[in-house]
Amino acid sequence: MESVVVLIVGAGPSGLSIAACLSQLSVPYVIVEREDCIASLWRNHTYDRLKLHLAKEFCEMPHMPFPESAPTYVPKLQFLRYVDDYVEHFNICPRLNSSVESCWYDEVSSCWVVTTRDQANDMVTNYAARFLVVATGENSAGNIPRIPGLGDFPGHVIHSSNYRSESSYAGKSVLVVGCGNSGMDIAYDLSSNGANASIVIRSPLHIVTKELIYLGMKLANWRFPLKFVDFILVVLSYIWFGNLSKYGIVRPSIGPLILKEKTGRSAVIDDGATALIRRGDIKVFGPISSIKGNVVEFDDGKESYFDAIILATGYVSTAGKWLKNGEDMMNKDGMPKKDFPNHWKGFKGLYCVGFARRGLAGIAVDAKNVANDIKAALDMMAPM
Ligand SMILES: Cc1cc2nc3c(=O)[nH]c(=O)nc-3n(C[C@H](O)[C@H](O)[C@H](O)COP(=O)(O)OP(=O)(O)OC[C@H]3O[C@@H](n4cnc5c(N)ncnc54)[C@H](O)[C@@H]3O)c2cc1C
Ligand SMILES: *[C@@H]1O[C@H](CO)[C@@H](O)[C@H](O)[C@H]1NC(C)=O
Ligand SMILES: *[C@@H]1O[C@H](CO)[C@@H](O)[C@H](O)[C@H]1NC(C)=O
Ligand SMILES: *[C@@H]1O[C@H](CO)[C@@H](O)[C@H](O)[C@H]1NC(C)=O
Ligand SMILES: *[C@@H]1O[C@H](CO)[C@@H](O)[C@H](O)[C@H]1NC(C)=O
Repeated sequence: MESVVVLIVGAGPSGLSIAACLSQLSVPYVIVEREDCIASLWRNHTYDRLKLHLAKEFCEMPHMPFPESAPTYVPKLQFLRYVDDYVEHFNICPRLNSSVESCWYDEVSSCWVVTTRDQANDMVTNYAARFLVVATGENSAGNIPRIPGLGDFPGHVIHSSNYRSESSYAGKSVLVVGCGNSGMDIAYDLSSNGANASIVIRSPLHIVTKELIYLGMKLANWRFPLKFVDFILVVLSYIWFGNLSKYGIVRPSIGPLILKEKTGRSAVIDDGATALIRRGDIKVFGPISSIKGNVVEFDDGKESYFDAIILATGYVSTAGKWLKNGEDMMNKDGMPKKDFPNHWKGFKGLYCVGFARRGLAGIAVDAKNVANDIKAALDMMAPM
């Protein structure tokens, strides 16, 4: 059993941010990561054409801005380079191939007992940690919807986290299920590279441009009321995109920023998909009722043949699977019980970073709060 002061689980942007904040405060920590690289979500589970959806000033990790030369909307590879520089700058040494399998609170020693396993050689390591920081992310596994017949679909089925680029889909009919940013970007990628792309849009959504979201976030930062900012965004995007309801795209009754704050659902930032939907290049379908062989049947009675299905149906947290005794902080779905801004602290030295549904900006705030709280707790414990 290895004794550590702080154990951080996960070496994505959240884990690395809290590591950097702790080292600024001279608090020792160990950081464990299940995969064999840092920022594995960005490196291995995102499509190639991904760019940060928000301007770089809203995507910085604590204590290190993006280089001056970085573009406003940072592409995936450049973001990864920034993360690699961050790790070097703060001298963060994650223990890779270390997947946390179980974790519980030992009242006798007042420590979190954590077991990690290296899947490659089946090696188990045990830690006793005074403080535990859950930084495994809101996106640690793909969410696979239950659709009757999906299991027997003879074509290719993947989750968006396994989609890199269009390479093998040219000439094929591909159905993208889900119309968040990933679904729209992937449908665009497919369609503009020779695939016959269709997309399932089940519920109302906001489509905006990245410039509009930038304006909205600026106005919100200047403390304009969100209701007012949302009104501006809706009017301007109506002027920009027109009425898209005949293409199956209907706006929610709540504005984009308030919707994000209330439900965590982001507006879709158009990167070209809308124009292809208007041209009929990307076909829009409503909810799926079932799948029979290669034929997908929809609730409105339509049916169509597809060669492949890409599930852009979002992600789930998996912290609920291994975290025991954390019930005061997290529910069984591995998401915080308390609402923002009180979501990041549990009892007995338990914390989480990166679960506020506020992207990288939220991560930076969480990391600073958690690091300061741990530092204060340690100062209280220290002998006078
Ligand atoms: C396609 C896509 C685009 C996005 N674009 C943006 C954007 O433009 N701007 C923005 O602010 N946000 C964006 N996000 C949100 C994004 O999730 C965050 O920016 C960020 O990656 C979250 O960091 P994280 O460290 O909390 O989680 P992750 O990046 O998921 O990192 C968690 C780490 O924990 C590890 N882990 C999980 N379980 C275990 C375990 N049991 N034991 C050990 N390690 C474990 C994982 O392997 C992973 O490396 C995007 C997300 C996706 C999926
Ligand atoms: C993730 O990608 C990196 C770099 O491309 C590679 O070295 C690593 O093996 C990959 N890991 C997994 C689990 O695919
Ligand atoms: C992690 O495991 C892979 C095999 O799955 C191995 O190739 C790699 O060297 C390991 N890395 C570390 C740092 O242990
Ligand atoms: C958009 O068009 C639909 C019908 O095509 C109509 O019902 C709806 O009111 C219009 N929305 C706006 C905001 O004009
Ligand atoms: C493209 O896909 C749509 C929806 O499945 C289908 O109706 C259409 O026939 C396909 N077109 C071609 C050229 O395959």
